[in-house]
Amino acid sequence: MRVLVTGGAGYIGSHTMRILQQRGYEPLALDNLSSGHRSACGSLPLFVADVRDGAAVRQVLDECQPEAVIHFAASALVGESVASPLDYYHNNVAGLLSLLQAMAGAGVGRIVFSSSAAVYGEPEVRPIPESAPLAPVNPYGRSKLIGEQMLADAAQASDLRFVALRYFNAAGAAPEMGLGEDHQPETHLVPCLLRAALQGNEFQVFGSDYPTRDGSCERDFVHVLDLAEAHVLALEQIDDQPNRTYNLGTGRGITVLEMLAAAEEALGESIPHRLAGRRPGDPPSLVADGSRARRDLGWEPERSDVEQIIASSLQFMREHPHGYGD
Ligand code: UFG
Repeated sequence: MRVLVTGGAGYIGSHTMRILQQRGYEPLALDNLSSGHRSACGSLPLFVADVRDGAAVRQVLDECQPEAVIHFAASALVGESVASPLDYYHNNVAGLLSLLQAMAGAGVGRIVFSSSAAVYGEPEVRPIPESAPLAPVNPYGRSKLIGEQMLADAAQASDLRFVALRYFNAAGAAPEMGLGEDHQPETHLVPCLLRAALQGNEFQVFGSDYPTRDGSCERDFVHVLDLAEAHVLALEQIDDQPNRTYNLGTGRGITVLEMLAAAEEALGESIPHRLAGRRPGDPPSLVADGSRARRDLGWEPERSDVEQIIASSLQFMREHPHGYGD
C-alpha cells in the first residue's frame, strides 16, 4: 500500500516512514522542511511542498495515487501557539482543510490524523479516557480539536475514512535507523535534560509546586517507535473500524523529577539542575487511559519504559551532537 506521509521528515513522521517501510508499505514524504530534516527521510522519496499549497499537494496525489495519507505536518508547541495563534490556525486548520480538499479531488479516501492530548486541556480525570471533556486551553489544542471535528464532518458527508490519534508525550529515538529528535529550538523534556547533561548546562525544572506526588509536572511518555507502530495498526483497521479516535499513551505517569533521576541513573552521574518557576500553559498531569487503542487496534507500547526512552535518546544525541546537521 502506498502511503503519503505529510510531515514525513519530522520527528514522529520520519520514524513512522521507516516502520511503514519495514511492514511492507510504500511510504512517500511530503514536507515543507520548515522543521523537518531532509536526511531524516534517508533514501525514501520526499516531495518538498507545503500542505497549505493545495495545487502542489493535488499534483503529488495525482502523480503517486496513494491509498492513504498520514497527516503529521503541523505546528506543535503550546507556548508558540499562544504567542502566534493565527499561524497555528493557518498551518494546522487551513493546512488540514487544504489537504482534505486535495484528497477529495484526487479520490484519496483514507487519512490518519495526528491529534494530541492537548484537546483535553486540564482534565480532572486521571487516567484520561477518550470520553473526557474536550476543553483545550490553548490555540494549539483548539487547532487539533477543530481538525478532529472537520474530519468527523467530512466523513459524515462523504466516503472519507479517518482515524485520529491523540498522542501523549512522544519521546525516545531510533539510533539504529539514524533517527531521533532534533527541534530548533528544543523545548521537550528528554532532549533538554540530556543536552544539559552532555553539555554541562543547567537543567531547569519548570515548576515544583504542582499538585503531583513530587510537585513537578507528570506526563505519559510514549516511545516514538511505539507511536509509529500505532499508525500502521490504524491503517490496518481503517476500513473495518473507520472514524475512530484513540489515545496513545501507556497509562503510566512520570514526573519531571523522576525523569531527571532516571537520566542520572542512566548516565551514572548527577545532572546540574535548579527548580525554576512554572512554564505558562503546562497542565499539572496528563496521563492516558490507552485501553481503547490496546483493545481495538491491538497496540502495545512495548518500548515505552523510561530506560529505553532515555537510552535511545542518549545514543542518538551522542552520535549526532549537532542533530541532523541540515
Ligand atoms: N520541562 C522542564 N524543563 C525543560 C523542558 C520541559 O521542566 O527544560 C517540563 C515541562 O515544563 C513539562 C514537561 O517537562 O512539565 C514536559 O514538557 P514537554 O515540552 O516535553 O512536553 P509537553 O507536555 O509540554 O508537550 C507535549 C507535546 C506537545 C503538545 C503537548 C500537549 O510535546 O507537542 O504535549 O499538551 F502540544
